Amino acid sequence: MNRPKTFKFLRGSTKMTTMLAKEKIIVALDVPSAEAAVQVAEKLHGHVGVFKVGLEVFTAEGPVVARYLVAAGEQVFLDLKFHDIPNTVHAAAHQAGMLGVNLLTVHASGGRKMMEAAVEGVRAAAKARGVAQPTRILAVTALTSLAAGDLGEVGFQGSPEEIVVRLARLAQAAGVDGVVASPREIAVIRQACGANFLIVTPGIRPAAGAANDQARTATPASAIRAGADYLVIGRPITGASDPAAAADAIAAEMETAFKPL
Ligand code: C5P
Repeated sequence: MNRPKTFKFLRGSTKMTTMLAKEKIIVALDVPSAEAAVQVAEKLHGHVGVFKVGLEVFTAEGPVVARYLVAAGEQVFLDLKFHDIPNTVHAAAHQAGMLGVNLLTVHASGGRKMMEAAVEGVRAAAKARGVAQPTRILAVTALTSLAAGDLGEVGFQGSPEEIVVRLARLAQAAGVDGVVASPREIAVIRQACGANFLIVTPGIRPAAGAANDQARTATPASAIRAGADYLVIGRPITGASDPAAAADAIAAEMETAFKPL
């Protein structure tokens, strides 16, 4: 293979960043044990940019997987979607920051004060650890599993797109670094929140892959073209017989959306 190549691309509309395609892949370690998570991570070392530790393995094993990956020098996304009173979220975000993870999720519907508390919590942790870059906070706007009817049922007013944009703006006003957004929401959020707001997109399926239970999918290239900064990919990589080869093929697909240097 003639990779790795470095590509220059536009983030949003103005900011030029240089990254390898593989660095924009976040692989979801949706497995039931620390042992399984570490096995997958070891196979994928050097083939993806970030490892996502989610509710399943965190509930089973606690912070051990995140700690292991941080100590191994990997980038880690702690996807625990905090939603609680500001004081509790401040304390939990502080603990996430002390773990040294790079990304952390909170629910935007927890409100401005809760999101501000999360931002303050990770800043305090960065100060305590003596690092310049705090853990970056991502807000979940409306879960992509909620259809228009479900959103109305829990009291959200307006179309799914209006709700998502309103919550993304609120998150940005609270000092949050970006959002988790489905492929179809990327463009409106980018327009509302600008080039420097991170957009992390799940629901990615390679052109030739199975959709599994993801209803609204996009290919890696189309999500990058729409303006996603990072792609969250689980089963298309972790369920492959050769996860590293699957990740390489996805990175190659992403590169078709970048401008070569
Ligand atoms: O296996 P798959 O590629 O569908 O995994 C997608 C990952 O992204 C899972 O960890 C899932 O929890 C996460 N996710 C999602 N949709 C959201 C937010 C997170 O699929 N709206």
